[in-house]
Amino acid sequence: MELEGRIAIVTGGASGIGYATSRRLILAGASVWIVDMDKESTAQAADSLGPLGRVHTFIADLGGSDNRQRVIAHIVRECERIDILVNNAGPAAISPAGQASFTVGISQSLGMTGELCRLVSPIMVSQNQGSIVNVASIAAMVGGGSDWYSAAKAGIVGLTIHLAGELSSHNVRVNAVAPGVIDTPRTRILRRQQADLATETIGSADEVAGVIAFLVGDDASHVTGTVVPIDGGSHFARRPAERT
Ligand SMILES: NC(=O)c1ccc[n+]([C@@H]2O[C@H](COP(=O)([O-])OP(=O)(O)OC[C@H]3O[C@@H](n4cnc5c(N)ncnc54)[C@H](O)[C@@H]3O)[C@@H](O)[C@H]2O)c1
Repeated sequence: MELEGRIAIVTGGASGIGYATSRRLILAGASVWIVDMDKESTAQAADSLGPLGRVHTFIADLGGSDNRQRVIAHIVRECERIDILVNNAGPAAISPAGQASFTVGISQSLGMTGELCRLVSPIMVSQNQGSIVNVASIAAMVGGGSDWYSAAKAGIVGLTIHLAGELSSHNVRVNAVAPGVIDTPRTRILRRQQADLATETIGSADEVAGVIAFLVGDDASHVTGTVVPIDGGSHFARRPAERT
């Protein structure tokens, strides 16, 4: 039980990559707070994960700064520490909200991730211990999805690298994962709409969760500031065609 006694937050933990990550962390012994805005899927996640270990839920739309502050304050009051933050929640690349405005997309994705890092890192610094994993996307390196989505995910990579340097002397590690197309409820809808997504190499949410669990765990104790692509090599496969 590598993560026994650790307090973890997984944003968007009720579905897809967040759910698979919550499951992995619970199985490794962590107490996991699923913070999600979808009441129904959060209740379902708590029902299915509860028998495996300690799971707590908090329903909140993390798109707003007030809610972000409220969630972190609540968890610190309850648990007196935060050891792990998985910044997974974010708007879909192609969504009515995302198409409405470039700045809204950046704020809901990069802004949310950045503010949650800023709220949690002083707590981790005071403990002299902590690990953050930000869920970016392969779109940060090769584009895709939409303009704001690629820009926000590239920003999350920059944020990760910056914070890794800033926090390394406090034993707080900050890493990112960059998934390609992953089979989740979100992409099942998109794949029906977009032919190019339907032909990509598709990974599973558990394949992403496994890498996140490694990065937050003690086997990665000397690993910080990394961005791990998890796309089955599809970004390499795309490059020769782009050169011709
Ligand atoms: N699935 C993919 O192919 C893929 C690829 C690259 C990156 N990602 C990234 O992985 C993350 C998870 O994606 P997924 O495919 O598992 O999505 P999903 O839709 O299956 O799950 C996302 C969860 O986050 C919650 N959520 C979304 N916005 C929220 C908010 N503002 N406040 C609180 N909860 C919120 C949703 O309610 C949902 O439960 C996202 O950041 C996404 O950009 C996904």
